[in-house]
Amino acid sequence: MILPIWKECCRVLAPNGKLVINTPLMPVPKDFCNTHHNRHIFNINSDIEHSILDNVPDLYLLNLYIWNRTNPTNQVIFGSYPYPTNFYGQNAIEFINVFVKDGKPAKVSKKTKELSRLSKRQWLSYTKDIWDIPIPNKKDLAIGYHSAIMPEEIVRRCIRLYSFVNDIILDPFAGSGTTLKVAIEENRNFVGYEIMKEYKTIIDKKINSEHINMFSKIEQKNIKTKKTISEEKEEIIQTLKNPESL
Ligand SMILES: C[S@@+](CC[C@H](N)C(=O)[O-])C[C@H]1O[C@@H](n2cnc3c(N)ncnc32)[C@H](O)[C@@H]1O
Repeated sequence: MILPIWKECCRVLAPNGKLVINTPLMPVPKDFCNTHHNRHIFNINSDIEHSILDNVPDLYLLNLYIWNRTNPTNQVIFGSYPYPTNFYGQNAIEFINVFVKDGKPAKVSKKTKELSRLSKRQWLSYTKDIWDIPIPNKKDLAIGYHSAIMPEEIVRRCIRLYSFVNDIILDPFAGSGTTLKVAIEENRNFVGYEIMKEYKTIIDKKINSEHINMFSKIEQKNIKTKKTISEEKEEIIQTLKNPESL
C-alpha cells in the first residue's frame, strides 16, 4: 500500500542519496490470527524491504541497524510463562533500514565536507550495528500529542551519517516533526509531509527556534583536525585494538 511513497522518495532522491526507514515489530493479536497461536509477529521491516527491492529498481540495501530500546515499557509479555514452549520476545527492538539510490554522488566542496565531518567517537558509535538508545522521555514536546515519536538521537545519527550540511532532508511521515527539528539543528534543510492536520501545532512548536538545540551545531563546528585522513584511519585502527584509549 505504501510502495508508491517509496517510489516517489526514490524519484526525488539525489543519485547516491539514502532512504532511511524505521520500523517496529508488530505483534498481531489472537483475534486477527485465525490459528492456534496466541500471537504472531508481523515484521514490517521485512515486508518493506522485499517490496522495495522487488519493485524499486534504483534502490539497494546499504545498511541495517537494530535500535535496542534501552528503556522498554513495563508491559511484560508472558506467553506461556513459566512453561515452555510459547515464550515471546519482549519486543524491545526496532529496525533502521538504509537504502541507497544508484548513481554517482554530486561533487561536494571541501568546506561542506569539513562542516559535515564526524568525530572519531561519533563514527565508531554510529557505525555499530546495534544502537542502544532510550525511547523519548517527557522532555520531548510531543509526549501526549503523538503516539509514535522517534528519539532525536536516531534521526541525528542518520542525518550525520548520510547527508552533508545544507542538504535537503525529506520526511514523508513527519508525525510530530522530530526529523525536521533535528535537520535544523544539524544545519540541513528539510521538507516534511504529514497527513493528520492536528499534528501541525506540535510540528510548528518543535521547529520553533526556541526549541532548537544550538549545542549540536556548536559540537559539529568543533570537529577540527590537522591530521590527514590516512593518519586518522590508522589512529582509529589503533584505538580499536585498545578501546580504553578512546
Ligand atoms: C510513526 S509516525 C512518525 C513519527 C515521527 N517520526 C516523530 O518522531 O514524530 C508516522 C506518521 O505518518 C503519518 N502518515 C501516515 N500516512 C501518511 C501519508 N500517506 N502521508 C503523510 N503522512 C502520513 C501519520 O499520521 C503519522 O503521524
